[in-house]
Amino acid sequence: MKISSSAFVFAIIVFSGVYSPCVWGQSGDGSLIPAPVSLTAEPGVFQISRSTKVYSSAAFRPLALQFLHMSGLADGGAGKIAKGSVLPATGIWFIKSGEPIPGDTEGYRLHIRADRIEIRSASLSGARYGMESLWQLMLLHPGAPLSCADILDRPRFHYRGLMLDVSRNFYPVSFVKELLDLMALYKMNTLHWHLTDGPGWRLEIKKYPLLTRYTAWRTHGAWKDWWNNGRRYREQGDPMAYGGYYTQDQAKEVVAYAAARGITVIPEIEMPGHSDEVTAAYPSLSCSGRPYTNSELCLGNDSTFTFLEDVLGEVMQLFPSTYIHVGGDEAGTESWKHCSKCQERIRREGLRNETELQSYGIRRIEKFLNAHGRKLLGWDEILEGGLAPAATVMSWRGESGGVKAARMDHDVVMTPGSYCYFDHYQADPSTQPEAIGGYLPLKTVYSYEPVPAELETSKQQHILGAQANLWTEYIPTTDQTRPNI
Ligand code: ACM
Repeated sequence: MKISSSAFVFAIIVFSGVYSPCVWGQSGDGSLIPAPVSLTAEPGVFQISRSTKVYSSAAFRPLALQFLHMSGLADGGAGKIAKGSVLPATGIWFIKSGEPIPGDTEGYRLHIRADRIEIRSASLSGARYGMESLWQLMLLHPGAPLSCADILDRPRFHYRGLMLDVSRNFYPVSFVKELLDLMALYKMNTLHWHLTDGPGWRLEIKKYPLLTRYTAWRTHGAWKDWWNNGRRYREQGDPMAYGGYYTQDQAKEVVAYAAARGITVIPEIEMPGHSDEVTAAYPSLSCSGRPYTNSELCLGNDSTFTFLEDVLGEVMQLFPSTYIHVGGDEAGTESWKHCSKCQERIRREGLRNETELQSYGIRRIEKFLNAHGRKLLGWDEILEGGLAPAATVMSWRGESGGVKAARMDHDVVMTPGSYCYFDHYQADPSTQPEAIGGYLPLKTVYSYEPVPAELETSKQQHILGAQANLWTEYIPTTDQTRPNI
């Protein structure tokens, strides 16, 4: 199989077997990804076999059972570990303990000894990270003895995300689950699910059925063909229609699958731009009142906010995440300039221009989300025209938006295009399937430091972490996103 441009080329490299047999170098030698805080090689090996037993503290039993399921090892009586009990000579132990790294509940210690393997943590998430480290080693060295080592680790950032765009191309739930498995393996804890955009609305909303009966379906399968040929939609059931959507039950299934792997799913409902599919299905929400004329929602029209609040109401029922992503990127202002309702809104609210009109819209939605106990997350354009009071910013157009927001004491997720856009070419373009452009090899991704150098120490705590973005204009099937294991 051709090594393809994909979010998981790093996985392909890791899984290519070049590290076998298991011999430790430094903690950053690539054996474990991400590199652990410390790894001390010790003499000896531990041989895992089908009959190796798995034991666990009661608190980690669900995790131990998951590990048994993944690895096919034997249940040594998970849940039977008792305080003060003597560990048996052999087996893999999940042990709830004090913090292996003081002050960090999510830290873990993975101690591969000649007589047993111990995973210790104060928390379930820490124990999960220990388990995933062990699982990485087992996948890297199938059947081989594991060299003894004492590994201490903790997440440096609390937000470790991947964004999947399912609008440009639609992928089945089975694939989203595969992706979640891979994310868990790499200790990523947030799936940002880009569910709505011009090329197709992808989430069942009971109150607005045309979003899925109509604008979840389009005229051309290949995004580029659709983009270059009028960007039209087709009714569901039309034999020429390409598309699809997730039912609310499927969305819940994905959320539960992710949660069982320590991953939060943050839904993105784009507004006010990138909304061609909304204005085609419900033209009264656009400034022109006609389909296929405006990508932006009309912000002078109160029914736009009724629509958005109805949609977000259903979304919050499905997604328990604290954050709800509202997009906010790349909205044009032209239609608002020529819209009497938008101009009236600008006058009435004392706004200076259309940029402030967008900010008005985002602030209004933030109030709604906050009133429901949720927080607003948006792309860095939400800084323009005034940032909503408690919003968290995703810095994608370089790092400056992130720096600016952090200096204003807002939280930030760093995802600058030059390091985090996995839709770019990841190797010599002549060897790759067509991609959107750019060039982002693995080395560059790994070189990324999420805390911008110019950011004052006192503001650095606002950098919650980083995220890779997989826009899918040029990823028509799941083949390109599957590691070559
Ligand atoms: C973006 O890439 N438009 C956020």
